Amino acid sequence: MADYTLHDDAGKEIARLPLLHGTLGSAAADVRRLLDDSGITTYDPGFSSTASCSSAITFIDGDQGVLLYRGYPIDDLVEKSDFVEVAYLLLFGELPSDAELRNFSRDVTLHTMVHEQLSTFYRGFRRDAHPMAVLLGVVGALSAFYPDSIDVFDPLQRLISIERLIAKMPTITAMAYKYTIGQPFVYPRNDLDYCSNFLHMMFSVPAEPYTVNPLLAKAMNALLIVMADHEQNASTSTVRTVGSSRANPFACIAAGISSLWGPIHGGANEAVVAMLVGIGTKANLADAIRRAKDKDDPFRLMGFGHRVYKSYDPRAKVMRRIYEELLAELDLADDPLFELAKELERRALEDDYFVSRKLYPNVDFYSGLVMKALGIPLNMFTAIFALSRTVGWLSHWKEMIEDQDQRIARPRQIYVGATQRPYVGIAQRRLDGAAPKMPTGRPMPSEPSIVGG
Ligand code: CMC
Repeated sequence: MADYTLHDDAGKEIARLPLLHGTLGSAAADVRRLLDDSGITTYDPGFSSTASCSSAITFIDGDQGVLLYRGYPIDDLVEKSDFVEVAYLLLFGELPSDAELRNFSRDVTLHTMVHEQLSTFYRGFRRDAHPMAVLLGVVGALSAFYPDSIDVFDPLQRLISIERLIAKMPTITAMAYKYTIGQPFVYPRNDLDYCSNFLHMMFSVPAEPYTVNPLLAKAMNALLIVMADHEQNASTSTVRTVGSSRANPFACIAAGISSLWGPIHGGANEAVVAMLVGIGTKANLADAIRRAKDKDDPFRLMGFGHRVYKSYDPRAKVMRRIYEELLAELDLADDPLFELAKELERRALEDDYFVSRKLYPNVDFYSGLVMKALGIPLNMFTAIFALSRTVGWLSHWKEMIEDQDQRIARPRQIYVGATQRPYVGIAQRRLDGAAPKMPTGRPMPSEPSIVGG
């Protein structure tokens, strides 16, 4: 394909943009020299048409519903692999040999405990703190606990930080849960595999023996694999942006957690179950669909739609299958919430609003139900997403640091504010009565403060 040429209205050539090609997916017009050569920038809020980097980690074909990690289809990996092996694949590009996997698992396992002092950090939070608030604070704090591995220019320190984060995320996440329910923290057990150890730290108590149900560990493995990476989504782009300033990896992952927390990103799995519980019965489905289509109503069908997938999200397919297996094997058939979810999906996919906009169920539509069946409480859903996605974030962070083309992230803007003007003294301001718009309903300074309530 030839270069791409930009012309002005009169047909005069403004710029010639070389086309860059990957191994799969759309070509990209290289605009790196556009501003210098032509004085023009590009405008793309939300980056719908912007490739911010080249990456060899994950490929999505949104029209065909394909998701590949390093070239391997997601359903194959769920079927045949385990999470630590997939973490190795995402980080290093190839499936590990037997010896490589044993070494990597051992190195990760050696880091599962957290510094004992870190547990006092939890005690500074209110017991009802959202686990994501706890998680982002504690993960950020790791940079103070492990200053020996925050030199991003040292490949060995980078690797140690990566292993530390992958190893400690289950411990930190389970501790956040235990803290909110007032139970003692449970130490990791290095004789268990990654997923079984996480379930052990979440659900065992010192007073009773606890045996991990292998069915639950298998479902947890599938859950962690499907959520592990999804190319340049909001939180991954956040991690890359923060990392581009050479911030340490713990700070970068804390930033990723912050971004993931939003209800239209990782917070959607929690929002889906809350929505289904709110809808309650099939009799209320028509009203929910009507509200989702109403532009004056902020209600949306949570777990529906995706920036990239314009067909069924392959992760949703896997999650639905895993959920069906869990229901059958745990004898939970006829779960009313699942029946409601299936009926909502059926009706939405027959509705022209959703069909014409290509809005299909995304991963969160069924991952929340899988977590619920595993006994995970609603407010932990996004935290578990963060635990899994840490592997993807770290893979992108590592790739970015090793990529010679990457520079500090610094987007441009179209400035639409006031042009240069003289300073106005306070007595002269608002004489024309024009006041800037302020939100109404704030407590006046004389009213009691809500801070600390
Ligand atoms: N319910 C109702 N209408 C929707 C929905 C929805 N869930 N999603 C999109 N639309 C409509 C939207 O109103 C717009 O309509 P119109 O063209 O008439 O203005 C059209 O579909 C395109 O939507 P958009 O908001 O421009 O699409 P986007 O690519 O900016 O947003 C999204 C993608 C995922 C944020 C959005 O679909 C959404 O809010 N979905 C619900 C939240 C959710 O499930 N998020 C999880 C995403 S997957 C996991 C992850 O990324 O973390």
